[in-house]
Amino acid sequence: MAAGEASLVALGLHFCRKNKLLSKSTLPSIISCIRRGLATSVLSQTVEEPSATTSPSSSFGGPLEHYNSLIRDGQLREDLQQRAVMEKLEQMQKNLRGYSNDRSSFFSKFISQRKPPKGYYIYGDVGTGKTMVMDMFYNYVETEKKKRVHFHGFMLDVHKRIHRLKQSLPKRKAGKMAKAYDPIAPVAEEISEEACLLCFDEFQVTDIADAMILKQLFENLFLKGVVVVATSNRPPDDLYKNGLQRVNFVPFIAVLKEYCQTLRLDSGIDYRRRNCPAAGKLVYLSSEPNVDATLDKLFDDMAFKQNDITRPRSLKVNGRILTLDKACGTIADCTFEELCNRPIGASDYLEMCAVFDTIFIRNIPLLTLNKKTQARRFITLIDTLYEHKVRVVLLAEAPLDELFVWEHHDDHDHHDTHVLLDDLGITRDSGSSLAIFTGEEEVFAFQRTVSRLTEMQTEEYWVAGERSSK
Ligand SMILES: Nc1ncnc2c1ncn2[C@@H]1O[C@H](COP(=O)(O)OP(=O)(O)O)[C@@H](O)[C@H]1O
Ligand SMILES: [Mg+2]
Repeated sequence: MAAGEASLVALGLHFCRKNKLLSKSTLPSIISCIRRGLATSVLSQTVEEPSATTSPSSSFGGPLEHYNSLIRDGQLREDLQQRAVMEKLEQMQKNLRGYSNDRSSFFSKFISQRKPPKGYYIYGDVGTGKTMVMDMFYNYVETEKKKRVHFHGFMLDVHKRIHRLKQSLPKRKAGKMAKAYDPIAPVAEEISEEACLLCFDEFQVTDIADAMILKQLFENLFLKGVVVVATSNRPPDDLYKNGLQRVNFVPFIAVLKEYCQTLRLDSGIDYRRRNCPAAGKLVYLSSEPNVDATLDKLFDDMAFKQNDITRPRSLKVNGRILTLDKACGTIADCTFEELCNRPIGASDYLEMCAVFDTIFIRNIPLLTLNKKTQARRFITLIDTLYEHKVRVVLLAEAPLDELFVWEHHDDHDHHDTHVLLDDLGITRDSGSSLAIFTGEEEVFAFQRTVSRLTEMQTEEYWVAGERSSK
């Protein structure tokens, strides 16, 4: 930003403050935004809109009162485990009043800093209400410096920031070994300037590139006074189970436990599977007669309402082009092959969510362990679509519950394992000597995928995904 523009902005801010158009608490975050040249980041992009259930209302004093009212109205069923977690989160919401991790200002050096409250790591089976309780809490936290992010998106953003920092360094002189530059601490610092509360949905570690930096990243965030609340399907000790080079990851678990209290939320009820009216037929089996023609007709009926023609579509993702064979307006008609059998991933799926509100996924095969790479992509794809309320129409070889086939393979020399190792940048020799890829991680993640796909078949989900009226 040019100096002249900066002083104009400063003048504007001064005017707003003087005329009480801006609260004191919002000033630091605005200033820090301007300082970074209003750089956009996934951190701010992935903050989701509160859902109808969890959005705050001025008639409630806090998240617990809100929860109680939903039980009273019959919108939620009484669940003692959820209540116990809500009580802790209610207390934390109060403890966070007036809390700030801003230590950079001149005045803050003279004011004694409050110790950050200990965060929470909430884990349990799919559909037990973890995300719901966290969002209810999050929406009542009064600080402006709060972020609610999906863990996947957050880590993508962290890697982007690391990349950006490395690029901004002066080139090393040939022949001279400069001291290795460590970008993680500055990235953590940058994030801590943007948020004093980070709420992570779906904390999970499956990627070696994430696993290797988490300890340093989070240690720095915690030292900067960032409070963390996370939901996960796994207890901390099981994170990155069977992962490559796990010994290097394990110290992170102790750091996480030191700064976050572990809470189990596991009533055994998957509320997603409760009887919701289905949104019409959205899952088709390849054994059904003329099923391709049925889907063609469904697509044409939907495309008819779009202001577009049916054509291939190219999306720009991180400077690359992702081509999809068939789309019309906000609807894409894809195959499993197109979406999961190519070296694409979370950022491609994110871009698809920005463009499409309905995606057909045809020819989903049985996901056996020898299709592990594709299965992982499918899990990431559904996670991303679910997060962004994108609707799906599926054509699969088996009903959702039977799609993932768990068989034991001893064959470490498998082709897909090699593809995965290559994706991770690990040499085959080191990979094949490790007892990894048992498939346990995928089986676990797939339970969540099936639960989500079940919810994605409901009318409520279909209606929420309608974008044309928004
Ligand atoms: N006590 C409850 N009674 C009824 N529905 C619930 C209850 N708790 C959660 N739900 C619903 O169940 C679904 C799954 O909850 P969610 O928080 O996404 O689960 P998780 O994050 O544990 O997988 C959501 O639609 C949520 O509104
Ligand atoms: Mg969840």
